[in-house]
Amino acid sequence: MRRPGTGDAATPDSADDSPEEPLADDAVLEVDTIRRESDVDAVLDRLDSELVGLVPVKTRIREIAALLLVDRMRSKFGLSSSRPALHMSFTGSPGTGKTTVALRMAELLHGLGYLRRGHLVSVTRDDLVGQYIGHTAPKTKEVLKRAMGGVLFIDEAYYLYKADNERDYGAESVEILLQVMENQRDDLVVILAGYKDRMDDFFRSNPGMSSRIAHHIDFPEYSIDELVAISELMAAEHEYVLPSDTTAVLRDYLERRMRQPRFANARSVRNAIERARLRQANRLVSEPGATVTKQQLQSLEPADFLASRVFTDDAEKHDDTD
Ligand SMILES: Nc1ncnc2c1ncn2[C@@H]1O[C@H](COP(=O)(O)OP(=O)(O)OP(=O)(O)O)[C@@H](O)[C@H]1O
Ligand SMILES: [Mg+2]
Repeated sequence: MRRPGTGDAATPDSADDSPEEPLADDAVLEVDTIRRESDVDAVLDRLDSELVGLVPVKTRIREIAALLLVDRMRSKFGLSSSRPALHMSFTGSPGTGKTTVALRMAELLHGLGYLRRGHLVSVTRDDLVGQYIGHTAPKTKEVLKRAMGGVLFIDEAYYLYKADNERDYGAESVEILLQVMENQRDDLVVILAGYKDRMDDFFRSNPGMSSRIAHHIDFPEYSIDELVAISELMAAEHEYVLPSDTTAVLRDYLERRMRQPRFANARSVRNAIERARLRQANRLVSEPGATVTKQQLQSLEPADFLASRVFTDDAEKHDDTD
């Protein structure tokens, strides 16, 4: 396994896999140089610019990055740098950024030399647990094989374990995961994701799993101001513009949407923008003999949001109200 501090993780086969001579006791390391060697700042900057809010999450990730940097510098002096425990749980409501942050985490750990490949394999119970006897172990092992060298992200991890069903095959999958999380933690980081209360129950029923998780990170719900800021970021990402009268309507839309069933934070914002794009497109092309300007092609108008069911009284009756 590659230890932190052994050079560029992007070239795992290079000759520097042999242990380096430790630095002299009175050597001085420049932290900036070590930071640059890893991609840590690039990843942290992306996290800041791509994701609105999430201050507690970003703070925790900066702390973890600092710990790993220190570990890397310690190893250069030959100080013990036993790999810190890195399995995590990400708890929070749907659409609060868990998958996105997990992707950045994989990049960060790759940049710091903790993960060979730094990819993310995202699975749910169905990918791990079979329907019939003898199917679960091969399924779980296949997923683990794909994830080695990267992050295994298990969404709604609590479905792996059904407390009321002792013949459930999920337990078999959990057993295998526990072993690999312990024995191959040099080559795999597991992130369990899901709602906080259900995850807490899951950990209570699976103390073995709980004790292997080093970092519990909670993703807060977004405030209305954050949701509006997310809309603006997403629109800009696609080179659309939200004029101020549209932003006002969108704020109203989001306030209503938040109170309705199946609200999914930033994912609902993304859906709202996608639907507005459809309505805008329809509006621009449906008039016979229409002409358009660049500005019109970029602009999402209040009408593009006002046509949503969210503004009609029976919105609650619909499953998907975006
Ligand atoms: N703070 C944020 N700023 C900007 N965009 C965000 C933010 N949080 C999430 N998004 C965007 O919202 C969408 C949903 O985010 P993501 O898939 O990471 O959420 P999730 O917590 O994994 O949701 P789920 O629990 O439903 O899987 C993505 O397109 C992501 O880019
Ligand atoms: Mg997700």
